[in-house]
Amino acid sequence: MVSTFVVGGAGFIGSHLAELLLERGYHVTVFDNFSVGKEEFLEGAKASGRLTIVRGDALDLDALTKASQGHSVIFHLAANPEARWGLERTRLDLEQGTIATYNALEAARLNGIANFVFSSSGTVYGNTSKPCAETDLGSLPISLYGASKFAGEALVASYVECFKLRGTICRFGNVVGPRGTHGAILDFLKKLKAHPEYLDVLGNGTQSKPYLHVTDCVAGLVHALDHGPDALNVYNLGPSDFTSVKKIADMCVAASPYKNARIEFGESSQGWPGDVPTSRIIVDKLASAGFRVRYTSDLAVEMAVRSVASEVFG
Ligand SMILES: NC(=O)c1ccc[n+]([C@@H]2O[C@H](COP(=O)([O-])OP(=O)(O)OC[C@H]3O[C@@H](n4cnc5c(N)ncnc54)[C@H](O)[C@@H]3O)[C@@H](O)[C@H]2O)c1
Repeated sequence: MVSTFVVGGAGFIGSHLAELLLERGYHVTVFDNFSVGKEEFLEGAKASGRLTIVRGDALDLDALTKASQGHSVIFHLAANPEARWGLERTRLDLEQGTIATYNALEAARLNGIANFVFSSSGTVYGNTSKPCAETDLGSLPISLYGASKFAGEALVASYVECFKLRGTICRFGNVVGPRGTHGAILDFLKKLKAHPEYLDVLGNGTQSKPYLHVTDCVAGLVHALDHGPDALNVYNLGPSDFTSVKKIADMCVAASPYKNARIEFGESSQGWPGDVPTSRIIVDKLASAGFRVRYTSDLAVEMAVRSVASEVFG
């Protein structure tokens, strides 16, 4: 039986990935420090009887190496998921991003685990509104989060070359859906719950990005692992369209009990320092490998707003 090890598997994307891997009949070990992830996210996965949960920290190389022994693939999803947090804690992305990724790769090397899958992000393309394909790495990241993803990718490529691992890197758009732990939709709905009269939005609302439904995200990750032809395979993963922040704000107000809340936009076209206001990714490479997302960006957002609203408002 394929035995998979998911670092950060109790989080938003990780818990959906665990469910998909279990549906395929695999064994799944979730390794998570539960800093953001929740045991309740794994309730569905537990029913399979093929899930092992290890509470541990990816910064602890010994614990990671011990727990990952005997597995055939590591999915590395643990990270600081929120780019904004790096503005206040400047070591966060270095530790939770770069060093945790080094540790996960090192655990794979020490245990002879053949496959390593890394959750990267479109932030590696930097501050450009130009649609980017996988080779368009001309402008450097502009956030500490993006910097850690860039460094993580370089580490994966180096381990592939030096230690003969097989590496799969997926650069996601913004991922949305049930159990979301951060991001604009959750932020907006929580703000509305705290003060129902108004919704303040960071930036002027013109920011726009490709939003990827979490079920498409995990299906794409597994497809990329299964179909990548090379030792190192890098794919953009997302829909080919995009959604504006203004549209998300409108949808959140409409899905909340506070339909008359006024939306107050900021003045800047950027949400916060380090935010990439306009992001576009070209997803042709993964399409050529046989994978297409099921949901457009607008549809993914619409579905996510509905599910997260019911989580926030009951
Ligand atoms: N959600 C998005 O929009 C998005 C977009 C692009 C890339 N990504 C990447 O996908 C991955 C998963 O993101 P997510 O949205 O599910 O975030 P998440 O915070 O919900 O999940 C991350 C999980 O990792 C765990 N974790 C964090 N640090 C850890 C550590 N040191 N040791 C062990 N566990 C640790 C957390 O408890 C959490 O369960 C991240 O690497 C993120 O950067 C996410």
